[in-house]
Amino acid sequence: MNTYSSPVRVAIAGATGYAGQELLSLLIRHPEVHLVAAMSSSPDSAARPLPRLVRTWDGKVEPLDMTRLKAEATFVFLAIPEAAAAELAPALLDAGVRVIDLSGAFRIVDGRQRAKWYPATTVQPANVAYGLVEHNREAITHAALVACPGCYPTAALLALTPLMQAGLLDASAGIIVDAKSGISGAGRSPSDRTHFSENHGSMAAYGVLGHRHVAEMEQALGIEVTFVPHLVPLDRGILETIYVKTVAGTSAEQIAGAMQQAYASAPFVRLTGDALPEIKHVTWTNFCDIGWKFDAATRRLVLISCIDNLVKGAAGQAVQNFNVICGFDERTGLR
Ligand SMILES: NC(=O)c1ccc[n+]([C@@H]2O[C@H](COP(=O)([O-])OP(=O)(O)OC[C@H]3O[C@@H](n4cnc5c(N)ncnc54)[C@H](OP(=O)(O)O)[C@@H]3O)[C@@H](O)[C@H]2O)c1
Repeated sequence: MNTYSSPVRVAIAGATGYAGQELLSLLIRHPEVHLVAAMSSSPDSAARPLPRLVRTWDGKVEPLDMTRLKAEATFVFLAIPEAAAAELAPALLDAGVRVIDLSGAFRIVDGRQRAKWYPATTVQPANVAYGLVEHNREAITHAALVACPGCYPTAALLALTPLMQAGLLDASAGIIVDAKSGISGAGRSPSDRTHFSENHGSMAAYGVLGHRHVAEMEQALGIEVTFVPHLVPLDRGILETIYVKTVAGTSAEQIAGAMQQAYASAPFVRLTGDALPEIKHVTWTNFCDIGWKFDAATRRLVLISCIDNLVKGAAGQAVQNFNVICGFDERTGLR
């Protein structure tokens, strides 16, 4: 068990981004945290308040300053692009700072897969844990760096891991993850795909058979995954429809039992069973809602998994990891 005297000294890099602002809004209310700094990308930018947090937070987002991060923070949350995280994290770790990284830079264990999907990560630090709290709590507790899962893998792995671990999935049939995401998943910088007038009133698939989150899902499950993400005209939220086949002889009771056993004491996973979940039920929360329908005759199982990409898929999950490392109730600052 780690012991940190409360309040714990915490800083954020990337506080101006979508995930970083969400993180900031959670950490300023966290009862065990002293926020020493919230920083943006450039050492030269002017300090500025965040309009969303005026009167909630008196601070300003400051220029990026690695010397201060190393000297003043016990934990640094990195809510920055993966290439920047790949560069900054090793220096923070060398200085004895614990890192909670929201990017994909350190999620992939296999060197060849990492080089393919995250080529900027030339150094994989020692003692990295994959930050899916519900399934990796022990490793997270002792990690120097927590690689928080991607938003899409979070929803998929929470739905599939209990079934995989119970031996109920027919691996030869593969897994299909059909995902719909709100636009904030793409970050703050607009592009042709995320521009309001392109996205509003429309829906489009992207990254088909080429999205890097596949590597993360396959790494955790050991089963081939066909993943098709879609952008939908919502600001936030992810709904995944997941198609699998179960092994012969699987019963509805076994499926429900595996899920209930996995999440009996998980405060942020809500099993909805037959009442299929919706994005509206999870936005602005750290919950993942999972429901399913099963046809025993054909062994077809369809799961629906919903999260808020910026909370359970990013900032909320990062705070949950922080709570676990520090030995706080994992719901602290997230209720
Ligand atoms: N959006 C999501 O739903 C989501 C979910 C899970 C994980 N993530 C991950 O979280 C990270 C942030 O995503 P986001 O969506 O919040 O992106 P974003 O809205 O584009 O924000 C990016 C942040 O990173 C900063 N930044 C940019 N380049 C930098 C550099 N070279 N060095 C240091 N800081 C830099 C930006 O600062 P300035 O304002 O100064 O440019 C900004 O604060 C990414 O790694 C992303 O993959 C995002």
